[in-house]
Order: sequence, then C-alpha cells, then structure tokens
Amino acid sequence: MTAPDFPALRAACVDELAARGCFDRAPWAREAVGEVERERFVPRDVWQWARDGYRPLSYEEEPKEWARVVYDPVKAVVTQINDGEHDPRTTKGPVGGAATSSVSALDIVCVKLGHLGLEPGHKVLDIGAGSGVNAALLERRAGPGNVVTIEVDEALADQAARKLRTAGYAARVVCGDGEMGVADGAPFDRLVCTASARSIPRAWREQVRPGGSILTPYGTLFSASGLLRLTVGEDGTAEGRFVDIASYMWLRGHRAPGGRPPRDGAERLSASAADPDKVLDGDWNADFAIGHLVSGLTMRRVTGGSRRVLLWDGRQSFASVCCDAWDEADSVLQQGPRSLWDETLAARAWWDEQGRPEITRYGLSVTADGEHHVWLDAPENPLPGGVV
Ligand SMILES: C[S@@+](CC[C@H](N)C(=O)[O-])C[C@H]1O[C@@H](n2cnc3c(N)ncnc32)[C@H](O)[C@@H]1O
Repeated sequence: MTAPDFPALRAACVDELAARGCFDRAPWAREAVGEVERERFVPRDVWQWARDGYRPLSYEEEPKEWARVVYDPVKAVVTQINDGEHDPRTTKGPVGGAATSSVSALDIVCVKLGHLGLEPGHKVLDIGAGSGVNAALLERRAGPGNVVTIEVDEALADQAARKLRTAGYAARVVCGDGEMGVADGAPFDRLVCTASARSIPRAWREQVRPGGSILTPYGTLFSASGLLRLTVGEDGTAEGRFVDIASYMWLRGHRAPGGRPPRDGAERLSASAADPDKVLDGDWNADFAIGHLVSGLTMRRVTGGSRRVLLWDGRQSFASVCCDAWDEADSVLQQGPRSLWDETLAARAWWDEQGRPEITRYGLSVTADGEHHVWLDAPENPLPGGVV
C-alpha cells in the first residue's frame, strides 16, 4: 500500500483555505494549519454519511479516500455516532442516528480562529476537545502551557490527550462537562467552544476575565446556529454580536428534549393566514429569527401523502399545518396553551418588516443573573419576547 502524500494534501488544503479567505482575519493560522498534522489526530476508522446512514471508512482499507476526507477543507470528519454506541472497526452496514463527535471542517475552524483574537501568551479554554486538533492549533498561537481543553466523553478525552502528547503538544486535556468550565485553570483570556450552545453557562462568564472573549456557536432548536462572540464584563455580564453562521452539533446538555408532543388539549382548527411554503421558505436568516422569537420551537416536515409541517415547543403546545390546501378552514390544527403557527407567522412577519436582517445584525446580552436578551442592531432594541 502506498501511503498518501500527507504534506502535499495539507499544502493543497491550505491553498484552498487561503483562496476562500479563511485566513484573512488571522494570517498566523495559515502557518499553523500548514504545520499541524491533522492525520495524526483523526482516528484511522471514521464514519461517512451515505444516503442510507453512516458507513465506516477505514484507513487500512481505503487510505486514499481516508486522506482525502481528512484534508477536505470544507467538511467535518465524523468520528463518533450515537455517543459511541457503534464502533466503526466492527460495524459493516449503514447505521442511522446522529454524529456526536467530529473533527471540525477546517474552513469554519479558521474563521473561528480569526474571530477569537488569540494572542501569544493568552490562556485559552477549548470546550469540546474531540480529536484534540483544535487544541493543537490554539497552542501554535497561544504557546505551550496556555491551552486547556475539555471533553465530556471519556474515551475521546483519553484519545485527545494521547494524540496531543504524541504529537508534541502540552495542552492539558480535562474529561468533564464543559458547561462547568475548568475552574482551576481560570481566569482565561479566551474561551472557544466547538459545540453549539442554547444558553451561555454561568461558569464561562465567571472563568473568563473581564474584557476577555467567549466564542461559541449559539442557536435555537429551530435553525442552524450563529457564531457568537461575547465580551465578558466586570460584573459577570457578557455582551456581543453574531459574527457569522456556524453549524455544529449541540453541547450534550443542550440537545433537543426527547419525547413526543402530548396532543391532549382541545384542537383549534383554522385556515392559515399565509402560505406555509413561503413562511418556511428555507431562508436561513428568517429561520434564525423565527427560532429566537418563538421560544422552544422545533419543526418536522411530513412529506408522504399530504405535505404537513409539525411544530412543537417541547412542552404542551403543538401545531400541524397543511402545506397544500393551506387556505382551507381546517388546514391548521393548534393545541395547547400556545398557538405555535400563529406565533411562527408573526415571527416571520416581524423579520420581513425589519427589512429581512442578516445574522450579523443580531447580538446577545447576558445579565449578571443569567438572563439572555437577543437584540437587533443594539442592546436597546431587544427582540419582542427575546428573553430566554
Ligand atoms: C465538533 S466536535 C469536536 C471538535 C474538535 N474541536 C475537533 O476538531 O476535533 C464537538 C465535541 O464536543 C464534545 N462535547 C459535547 N458536549 C460537551 C460538553 N458539555 N462538555 C465537553 N465536551 C462536549 C463532543 O463530545 C464532541 O467531541
């Protein structure tokens, strides 16, 4: 077997990232990505999504494809599914479920490094160690002894620690819940999270020094997340803007609640006031606004037979909307204390009325008590109902 030419693949990947402007905010990252041997961090057996589920991809069996996947500049490499329930070394067929750890795609990794504002000598906390490769990149900038990385999954934390050590990095790997931070490493100048949050844990605000930054994917269950950069205040507050989009898996404690809508309240039937296909037209910015305006909202589309949209708030309220005959008197069914379709229509109308703002016009303020306020353009302009 001829081994793949990893240095050549890495160089080509760096060139592609540069052409995409991924190093524009942090030119130092170009050298770092060119030097960190990603193939040392990615496990030899990973998962690849096929139409029918995840299939294992092994370096031993397909070294060229494995190497291509490792140095794909825009795709994450899935390294764990269903919290490690399946082992890619012993699984043959396609497996359904969800990715629960991955080596993040290099384009978003570099964009994040750009927004982090990391300087040599900064102490940085990396939440979600995964393979450990992000900690290696951080160490290239911050310097040995300045990086702490935390991973909730014990097997992954052990692997990351081993790989970092073998590759010559000094980053400290902690196994634990990143929502609690790493108190004995605080205060940090920077905190970067590689999983999506639905709220900012108190420990993050307490463990980052005033004036320091928190950079994390942040969102709602309804839409993909935005990349949020907060500055921590003197008094335990934090405030900042969404700077980009960022689609990540959830922090373990922020995943969607399981279960099904209770469906036991009185049914309220009506026509829809607008075409559901136009309200939920896949505009990413519209969905971002709807998700923040209609708290707890999740959506599922039913495509077989009559097309419907099912909405749930994770509690007592449920709605089912018919997408084709939407103006007929019984096309919308709503149950529970909230009228979720009416709220969704109002949220979409608000977004249209505001001139269809893009994500970078929003920001978040977190009070010392932990109240979260999402705002448009300035903290004085909170979203209607935008308090979590
Ligand atoms: C996108 S992956 C890791 C990316 C990693 N930086 C890399 O490039 O290899 C997110 C990781 O966050 C971890 N994670 C999820 N919730 C966590 C939590 N509460 N505390 C620490 N780690 C968590 C997952 O187990 C997963 O390994």
